[in-house]
Amino acid sequence: MISERMKKISPSITLSIDAKAKQMKKDGIDLVGFGAGEPDFNTPENIKESGIKAIKDNLTRYTPSSGIPELKQAVVDKLKKDNNLEYKTSDIIISCGAKHSLFNIFMTILNPGDEVIIFSPYWVSYEEQVKIADGIPIFVNLKREDNYEIDFDLLNSKITKRTRAIIVNSPSNPTGAILSTSSLEKLAEISFKNNLFIISDEIYEKLIYNNKKHISIASLSKEVKKNTIVVNGVSKTYAMTGWRIGYLASENKEIVSAINNLQSHSTSNPATMTQYAALEALKTDESIIAEMIKEFDNRRKYMMKKLDNIKNLSYIEPQGAFYIFPNFNKIIGKEIKGKKIDGSLTLSDILLNEAKVAVVPGIAFGADNCFRLSYATSIVNIDKGLDRISEIFNI
Ligand SMILES: Cc1ncc(COP(=O)(O)O)c(C=O)c1O
Repeated sequence: MISERMKKISPSITLSIDAKAKQMKKDGIDLVGFGAGEPDFNTPENIKESGIKAIKDNLTRYTPSSGIPELKQAVVDKLKKDNNLEYKTSDIIISCGAKHSLFNIFMTILNPGDEVIIFSPYWVSYEEQVKIADGIPIFVNLKREDNYEIDFDLLNSKITKRTRAIIVNSPSNPTGAILSTSSLEKLAEISFKNNLFIISDEIYEKLIYNNKKHISIASLSKEVKKNTIVVNGVSKTYAMTGWRIGYLASENKEIVSAINNLQSHSTSNPATMTQYAALEALKTDESIIAEMIKEFDNRRKYMMKKLDNIKNLSYIEPQGAFYIFPNFNKIIGKEIKGKKIDGSLTLSDILLNEAKVAVVPGIAFGADNCFRLSYATSIVNIDKGLDRISEIFNI
């Protein structure tokens, strides 16, 4: 018998489609995958070398559970340089990925029944992590027509006595949208008016296009910094998803100390050698990631150009991350290949079986009339895959 807590957690909707796609590839079927949630580039050489050197130097033992002081200092320096945020090393906790940082936060700040505002479309782990921590996810829909900006009347109507936190994810997975500074300012105001935490997931901050600048909500004022827990990591920026290093920053001593306690009794420190690799990443000249960002931008533009020629699809130009989130409202209720399109699962199934293209159904992000395409794949694949999608949509 499993616990009541785990009974509340939904199995991953995308898992079955993912398993099917993997099996098709294994069977030699020429499948184009747009499901990737990680850069397809390799971790830069100097970062890999640092990890190897750490092992050879016998840096293979436990570290302080909240991370090595040098890496915390590098995070402090990064937050100052990139985000104009002043923290002390004692405000930082290094964890096994940003996902782990988020998990620690929910476990630490939520009591049973506490509510957390999640803007929808949203990254699926927010919902499940809040539920694991006995919290209640409260969704606030963002509209494509509004460029996924926040409707503040709607947001205010969802805030109750039980609201404890608001999650901000800009740039966003899955839409690639970036919140405007004025939205961030209004959110900041709401947070101190209602005494709410802002959990700012900034994992895609460097993957940003059209000369946009990332602004951390915590940098807007001293007051909002107090209420904000900044979450970031090296996974997406440095193509280091498998190394599992993320971090949080908060000047709330009680929270940092409680999270430290939780981490010390659950995972202890993130792997020692990967902390040294992350240290190298944060200290490296950013030219090593500039090429990757340029290539993502080329693919983004190429994917948009292809999408513009596909009938019955619409999308918002993504400003960051590496996803596009097309909407297929126009074909809902119609029939394709003998199947009635009733939502994103049916559509994804048709794309997989008929077009041999794997996408992530929008229902996984709370938007059943959309699907997510990742451009963390080659131009050749984008070309081939979108030609195939085009045939399906030309009805
Ligand atoms: C919005 C968002 N936040 C956090 C993460 C987790 O990243 P990490 O690899 O650091 O755990 C992801 C990964 O897909 C993500 O999309």
